[in-house]
Amino acid sequence: MSLPRILHGFDRLLHGGDYNPDQWQRYPEVLAEDARLIELAGLNVVALGIFAWTSYEKREGVFEFGWLDRAMDSLGRAGKKVILSTPSGAKPVWMSLAYPEIRRVTREGLREPHTGRHNHCWSSPVFRAKVALINRKLAERYAGHPALAMWHVSNEYAGKCYCELCRTEFQRFLQRKYGSVEALNHAWWADFWSYGVSEFSEIDPRGGLPEGMQLDHHRFNNQQLIEFMRWEMQPLRELTPGIPCTTNFMGTHGGNDYSSIAEHVDLVADDQYPGYDAADPELARHAAAVSFKDDLYRAMKPDRPWMLMESSPDVQNWRKPMRLKRPGLHRLEMMQALAHGAEGTCYFQVRKGRGGSEKYHGAVIDHAGHEGTRVFRSIVELSHDYEKLTVLLGTRVRAEVAFLYDWEARWGFELSSGPVNHDNAYDRVSQAHYRPFWARGVAVDVLSSERDFSGYRLLVTPQLFLLKPGVAERIREFVAAGGVWVATHYTAYCDEFNRSFLGGLPGAGLRGVLGLWNEEVDSLHESMRRRITAVRPGEYDLPAELYAESVCEIVHLEGARALAVYAEDFYAGHPALTQHAFGRGQAFYHAARLSDLGLDAFYGGLVRELALERSIDGVLPPGVTAQRRRSEQDEFVFLLNFTQHPAQVALGAARYDNVLEQRPEAGTVTLPALGVCVLQRRR
Ligand code: GAL
Repeated sequence: MSLPRILHGFDRLLHGGDYNPDQWQRYPEVLAEDARLIELAGLNVVALGIFAWTSYEKREGVFEFGWLDRAMDSLGRAGKKVILSTPSGAKPVWMSLAYPEIRRVTREGLREPHTGRHNHCWSSPVFRAKVALINRKLAERYAGHPALAMWHVSNEYAGKCYCELCRTEFQRFLQRKYGSVEALNHAWWADFWSYGVSEFSEIDPRGGLPEGMQLDHHRFNNQQLIEFMRWEMQPLRELTPGIPCTTNFMGTHGGNDYSSIAEHVDLVADDQYPGYDAADPELARHAAAVSFKDDLYRAMKPDRPWMLMESSPDVQNWRKPMRLKRPGLHRLEMMQALAHGAEGTCYFQVRKGRGGSEKYHGAVIDHAGHEGTRVFRSIVELSHDYEKLTVLLGTRVRAEVAFLYDWEARWGFELSSGPVNHDNAYDRVSQAHYRPFWARGVAVDVLSSERDFSGYRLLVTPQLFLLKPGVAERIREFVAAGGVWVATHYTAYCDEFNRSFLGGLPGAGLRGVLGLWNEEVDSLHESMRRRITAVRPGEYDLPAELYAESVCEIVHLEGARALAVYAEDFYAGHPALTQHAFGRGQAFYHAARLSDLGLDAFYGGLVRELALERSIDGVLPPGVTAQRRRSEQDEFVFLLNFTQHPAQVALGAARYDNVLEQRPEAGTVTLPALGVCVLQRRR
């Protein structure tokens, strides 16, 4: 079954970007020239009005939409599609002054002055009323406009407010969740340091402790965000029912649980600024981390394509130093998103503003104002590539491997004072376990723990520290039914309130599935490592000698067998990596955080043993990945070279068509440095 299109009836990959005609009304000649340049660049979609509130409503209640009428009409006449934004990302100064309650209050209790953007209070009834009014006016005015293709609701929702309104809402949220203060005090383990409360009204999130409150405050804030976003969408859904709504996410930003937010939008859109630097020896590692996010966003809505809403055609003003994107790098970055199932890529920004803090941010159209720039030419060339890639529409990525990436598990992990004291440890370990799949061209779906993983062959759950209700049972069923599960250190330490499981770790019955008991955990300095030896070298491709970094758990076997044991320190001889047959399946446990070489060997062996599908037969050179999209008849393999050197990829016996070069391809493909190749063949 092929996927529906992002835009109903639109038969091209989306290629465009944020465009701000509101800032250029004094320059009609520039607007006219932009129309020509947008056409020449081959862009087919623009996002309008993202921070344009003062251009709609200069003074309270005085509305002006003429500029947007003209922009929509002329773009529509030129056959372009418009992603129209609601303007709540930046509120007007007059509004901040007339209604101080819409400005956020910091944790220290200070009401912010009017400043910046993305900083309104989600609970404020005044702000909600203002947003509802402007959104309704936009929806009424442009319902049925031929250019209107999608709603971009607000911009990069994030942050927290600690005002009185939000505090009261938080208390109500807790009352609904726990019913009684006794239940809340127990969930928060509130007798510790005398945190217990006797009324919900005593709870104040500014205090920051206890830990259980912080966890619930993250959940509450995420809930407020969703409620606010749904409020914003209400007039859009009512007045323009056929137009999809989205909002732009920010990778694995820690404050929002995007997997839960994704349920409320029609399609998933992400903003990515990986800042690839061709000279960076770690380029391929960064690229694998970006692929991980792409697989996360694609998998959020398995029956809809996703899109890249923002990326930069060149430098970002906020990066130090502002390295220019080397030739080829932008194309590689965009092709990477397409390889992972995106139905288009858009830019921040189509034209550089004349002033403001982003005037030196990369854009399709430079201040020079013409097509004779390196960046502009690169976009024209990419548009030609996109035309050839129209064949990708409707294709999907199929994965046999599921990874769990769970924001609540991450919150539990990061809020817990110990045992994890390494920076960014949740993401780093997830990515380390993902890289061996990336390097072998094995497709992965990255899912939250609520999602159904029963249909996959392999389930990898890096550091599933906090368990939501029901997850342990579903993992047990998955393995019992024949699935293969790989768990790691820090698995099932805490319940959904971040309280330790009692009766031995891993908790919630997973000890039985893994066939071991985890007694203690030794956390290493960044510079330390511990030797490990394989019990039977070669099994699962394990070398005779391996190393642990950061984490060494001391586990005891209760049915599992050791694949590798520690070879030094007082826990020498204890298992570092285990395997347990459970029901019809297998469960592996990484008690130690294996170094990258060890992980690569282990997963290489597992991929081979399980005969997992790879996007291409044969071994990929270091720094090169292969990703595959499929239709009913064809498959499309993207080969992406994230190195500064040409790389050769053997195609085995298969014969392909090279889609971008439009020639047959067989034998060996040579990818130039930072090069891309898209191969097509009948399935
Ligand atoms: C994004 C934001 C855009 C623009 C961009 C610059 O986070 O959504 O509006 O500021 O960064 O890189």
